[in-house]
Amino acid sequence: MTVVTVSKGPFEGQKPGTSGLRKKTRVFMEPGYLECFVQSVFNAIGGAEGKSFVVGGDGRFFNREAIQTILKMAAANGAAMVIVGQGGLLSTPAVSNLIRQRGTDGGLVLSASHNPGGIDADFGIKYNIANGGPAPENITAGIFEQTQNITEYRTLDAGDVDLAAVGTTSQGDMVVEVVDPVTDYEALMHTLFDFDRIRALFASGFTMRFDAMHAVTGPYAKAILEGSLGAPAGTVINAVPSEDFGKGHPDPNPVWAKTLMDEMMSDTAPDFGAASDGDGDRNMIVGRGIYVTPSDSLAVLAANATLAPGYKDGLAGVARSMPTSAASDRVAQKLGIASYETPTGWKFFGNLLDAGKVTLCGEESAGTGSDHVREKDGLWAVLLWLNILAETGKPVMAMLNDHWATFGRNYYSRHDYEAVPTEAATAVMARVEDRLSDLTSQSFAGLKVTSADSFSYHDPVDGSVSHNQGLRIGLEGGGRAVLRLSGTGTDGATIRAYLEQYTGPEGDHSLDAETALADVRSAMLEITDMEALTGRAGPDVRT
Ligand code: G6P
Ligand code: ZN
Repeated sequence: MTVVTVSKGPFEGQKPGTSGLRKKTRVFMEPGYLECFVQSVFNAIGGAEGKSFVVGGDGRFFNREAIQTILKMAAANGAAMVIVGQGGLLSTPAVSNLIRQRGTDGGLVLSASHNPGGIDADFGIKYNIANGGPAPENITAGIFEQTQNITEYRTLDAGDVDLAAVGTTSQGDMVVEVVDPVTDYEALMHTLFDFDRIRALFASGFTMRFDAMHAVTGPYAKAILEGSLGAPAGTVINAVPSEDFGKGHPDPNPVWAKTLMDEMMSDTAPDFGAASDGDGDRNMIVGRGIYVTPSDSLAVLAANATLAPGYKDGLAGVARSMPTSAASDRVAQKLGIASYETPTGWKFFGNLLDAGKVTLCGEESAGTGSDHVREKDGLWAVLLWLNILAETGKPVMAMLNDHWATFGRNYYSRHDYEAVPTEAATAVMARVEDRLSDLTSQSFAGLKVTSADSFSYHDPVDGSVSHNQGLRIGLEGGGRAVLRLSGTGTDGATIRAYLEQYTGPEGDHSLDAETALADVRSAMLEITDMEALTGRAGPDVRT
């Protein structure tokens, strides 16, 4: 077993984005590309010598090869131990849990989340720190710096490790522990939720459809929902992870989970529907005849969390990303707890969770989670909903109507303009940014602008400041438009326009969201000059 030092690098553009490094799979397959990034991670954290890591991925194309590469490199860099999911599979929240539970120094997650998989699709890698969460900006900046200067990486001239069977093996002098991906995660869920109660709900005839979208949550959902909770076989669909997610787009939203949406809106809809993404951290919640926006889901969960055993003592606070609707702020206000507004990206919740300032967090991008791990957690959100439905006995639609009657409704929709040429996307942002200071008190599409700024976040825990986190435009009458460029795409730029309109408890909560948002949308289009600058007549995706 010889350690080999290979001269390679640097590669351009290895800058971690919103959630790690995402590139086309073929880019990651270029000789030395993955290796230089992994070596840069090790270099940035002061070496891997004597350290332990968790490594796992969502099973997409190139997952197995990448894991074998990482195992050889970790061994060659002197790591003491790596915990790997059987077959290389681990959902992102399961990685986070293992890092915390086993006290490892960190972990590497192989995934491009909700982006499609395959040789002509996307791949990604993300480094998580010892708290189980994505590396914060100071560490990702350090990794990026390393990638710009790297000239060699260290690996082992050795064969692959057999990841097919659970048990302890080795790569060189390094211990490799192959674990069942589900066991420890499920044990954690048992500490948070009343499994007996949810089992009784299913036994009483409650019906559900969970779409695993051919991605990593299949085995988790089968074991927990159909196994431990006794939901009928067939409750979980598309349950076998495949390298290209069944040629689908594993993003749990009404567009990409259309089959599930259609079923939930049909006459034969089950009581409850849910889906999760490629790596299992996102969730979509849908009731019979009603889609629950991620922003509303966070608010409903916050308002009812104490019904689940893990949260019975109340919440410390609630955090949401800036573009997420203010629905959860209203809940926090009523509960008399703190609410926080962070930039997009789960990593920004880490400090608040570690400091015990918040218990629940959520994002409009279909992410919800709590202090049980340091990632968002798709199946966790589904189980919390199930626990709440089991306790209240209410259908999802009644839950939402009652919620809006108490707190008012934040109508919400995100409009995405995808794969826009970078110059055009930058022009849209620049157009608004240049005029930010004169927008206030001007009117667009009949709506007066009441506030306009570029969002900067001051982390209340470590004092760090993150600038340019999106443009916020407040409109009279409770409207808001937010603009930012996606940090997770791999193809040109994606402009996200987040539209919101608040209607109070006494208002009409029965409108179609796009109808309720029509004026805010028109104002956004006028302010941005979107159509002229991008040449697009409308968004590609509305979620
Ligand atoms: C990833 C992160 C999320 C974030 C999302 C936003 O999923 O884990 O925390 O909200 O990306 O992506 P965007 O494409 O809008 O930058
Ligand atoms: Zn994901």
